[in-house]
Amino acid sequence: MRILLTGGCGFIGSAFVRMALSRGHEVTNLDKLTYAGNPANVADVADLPGYRFVHADIADPQAVAGALEGVDVVVNMAAESHVDRSILDPAAFPMTDVVGTAVLLDQARRAGVARFVQVSTDEVYGSIPEGAFRETDPLEPSSPYSASKAGGDLQALAWHRTYGMDVVVTRGSNTYGPRQYPEKLIPLFVTNALDSEPLPVYGDGQQIRDWINVDDHCAGVFAALEHGVAGEVYNVGGGNERTNLEITERILTLTGRDATLIRHVSDRPGHDRRYALATDKLRRLGWAPQVAFPDGLAGTVAWFQANRDWWEPIKSGAYRAYYDAQYGGREVPGS
Ligand code: NAD
Ligand code: TYD
Repeated sequence: MRILLTGGCGFIGSAFVRMALSRGHEVTNLDKLTYAGNPANVADVADLPGYRFVHADIADPQAVAGALEGVDVVVNMAAESHVDRSILDPAAFPMTDVVGTAVLLDQARRAGVARFVQVSTDEVYGSIPEGAFRETDPLEPSSPYSASKAGGDLQALAWHRTYGMDVVVTRGSNTYGPRQYPEKLIPLFVTNALDSEPLPVYGDGQQIRDWINVDDHCAGVFAALEHGVAGEVYNVGGGNERTNLEITERILTLTGRDATLIRHVSDRPGHDRRYALATDKLRRLGWAPQVAFPDGLAGTVAWFQANRDWWEPIKSGAYRAYYDAQYGGREVPGS
């Protein structure tokens, strides 16, 4: 397939680029290169004949139309992707995650692509105290990020219903692995721990996420792309529920640090307590996660240990200003 992938300079996108090329597909990577987009993430494949880069915004119809020439399928991973940033400054989120998705959908429809995969998140369902979300559950997003992603899902499904376009939506759970921008829980805590800096745990740290390895997530998107039914939604979950404190303790052990680095800070507003996904629908397409969490996390920590030259430059400059705005003055006294 000739795939137009958006957001391929980000965390999951760059893993998807590698997987697609290794499976013999051609990839055009359209990326705006926001703070989260890093050309170094695809430097190892940039010169391969099956790879092409287009520096553009998914909300720019002309640029998108040009990039779509000769393309068979679209996989939309481009997004503003961090909940905390969406709380600090929500403006960019609907622009990319809703409007950008609608522009991309419409250009893809005009270009007559065979399939459009909208890569979404379990966060569109909101929080679930017990059991697991199914694809038919209502959308009750809590944050500006997840509300914007829900808007993108609805745009995609509307293009299927209205225009008969071949659209599939995937909803992935919390993803971890190499090259994740050090603002999300795992890469932030790993890099802070390696520098013996405090680990800011929100609230009581008993919130639960269902963690999936980045390659398992990408394989799930591929399964939906290759075998999914048009107009359907597929959950992509790791079946691997952990509290944030358990993640924190594992990272401390893997980095050889101790609990004195833990700082409880004030909770995130609107913080979802628990995510969990039923994944039998995607499993019926032949997919199943392959990476055991202890192995995957150990491999991720080892990658960050070995690649300081990747994350040290990121954690300076504008990142410091973000970090101070996000975490300054939040420490709970006595923690
Ligand atoms: P990321 O923040 O690491 O990367 C996002 C990429 O999109 C960057 O390369 C950025 O430059 C690009 N981008 C942003 N706005 C753009 C625009 N307007 N036009 C073109 N490119 C733009 O994100 P990620 O963690 O790799 O997530 C990828 C996708 O997977 C997102 O759609 C996200 O919602 C979804 N997802 C992520 C997770 C997770 O845990 N990280 C879980 C489920 C779903
Ligand atoms: P995050 O990686 O931001 O993903 P999401 O909010 O999309 O699930 O956060 C994962 C969990 O970790 C979430 O419950 C919030 C918590 N968290 C902290 O406790 N401290 C932090 O510094 C961060 C970034 C997250």
